[in-house]
Amino acid sequence: MKTYRIACIPGDGIGKEVIPAGQEVLQALAAAGAGFGFAFTSFGWGGDWYRAHGQMMPDDGLEALRGMDAILFGSAGDPQIPDHVTLWGLRLKICQGFDQYANVRPTRILPGIDAPLKRCTPRDLDWVIVRENSEGEYAGVGGRAHQGHPIEVATDVSMMTRAGVERIMRFAFRLAQSRPRKLLTVVTKSNAQRHAMVMWDQIAAEVAREFPDVRWDKELVDACTARMVNRPASLDTLVATNLHADILSDLAAALAGSLGIAPTGNIDPERRYPSMFEPIHGSAFDIMGQGLANPIGTFWSCVMLLEHLGEHEAAARLMQAIESVTADPALHTGDLGGKARTADVTSAVCHRLKNR
Ligand code: IPM
Ligand code: MG
Repeated sequence: MKTYRIACIPGDGIGKEVIPAGQEVLQALAAAGAGFGFAFTSFGWGGDWYRAHGQMMPDDGLEALRGMDAILFGSAGDPQIPDHVTLWGLRLKICQGFDQYANVRPTRILPGIDAPLKRCTPRDLDWVIVRENSEGEYAGVGGRAHQGHPIEVATDVSMMTRAGVERIMRFAFRLAQSRPRKLLTVVTKSNAQRHAMVMWDQIAAEVAREFPDVRWDKELVDACTARMVNRPASLDTLVATNLHADILSDLAAALAGSLGIAPTGNIDPERRYPSMFEPIHGSAFDIMGQGLANPIGTFWSCVMLLEHLGEHEAAARLMQAIESVTADPALHTGDLGGKARTADVTSAVCHRLKNR
């Protein structure tokens, strides 16, 4: 029987609660006759590791992850450590070190979830946002000089390469092609940003020619926020730069009812390195350690992990179990207006996997 090697990095805050919950659910799936098993290896990297060792992960951390089939990641963020240190020291180190250049963020209104859009039915909102995950505004290019002096200067340069844009466009068109509506919206800001975003648009048009069966349109990122609210059904697959997609995906998650539900995959489409799956929510220090975190974002991320491993049937089974749990308001956590605890939601999903 195939055993998948999964690296678990709970990270900080509620990551330490939702990742063990995710492991429990994956184990339940395996025990329920999925036809494969999991071998988990946990890594205690993050804020605590930083306090003990002065860095978020060890120098040879990537080496330890390299042979894994996939990575399940919680969250990075610690009130005592600057956010750019926690981000660049762990999550971005893995994303960039393993060239996970496609960040995929599906959004749907799951059964039983009260979403704020009153003028649409849940069926009208079924999106996948493809986030460029290796360059753009997160390239890390820039600098700071003359700190504290009146002439102090700081730059963050958004860097885009033809190779980087081509590969994310190709990935997005392929993903759009695989979905029933075959519809892609290319998000841009080429009216104001007249160099890189103009190249972005040009390359989109070039790559589009390889996918004659995909309908596509272009939307400015600001107008896109309004379109998401006013005409959700006009969107299906979206592709956007690193920062634009970061912002749009929070809006998408909120429109679908809660950030606590939203999943993501940091994917290396060429499969040279392990891909990494994580809930979109952060470390949520205000509720950490209390058993209140919503584990659904992690469970849905596990569905994406299974799909990436090619285990489509198991992925569908887990998604069904998740949807049957969200359908029951008694199993909603606080972010959804309910009183359920992380453990209640987890055991309900496990129970449905065992007794289907
Ligand atoms: C996300 C998050 C991160 C990002 C934060 C934690 C730096 O908001 O994954 O969307 O901006 O990439
Ligand atoms: Mg974000």
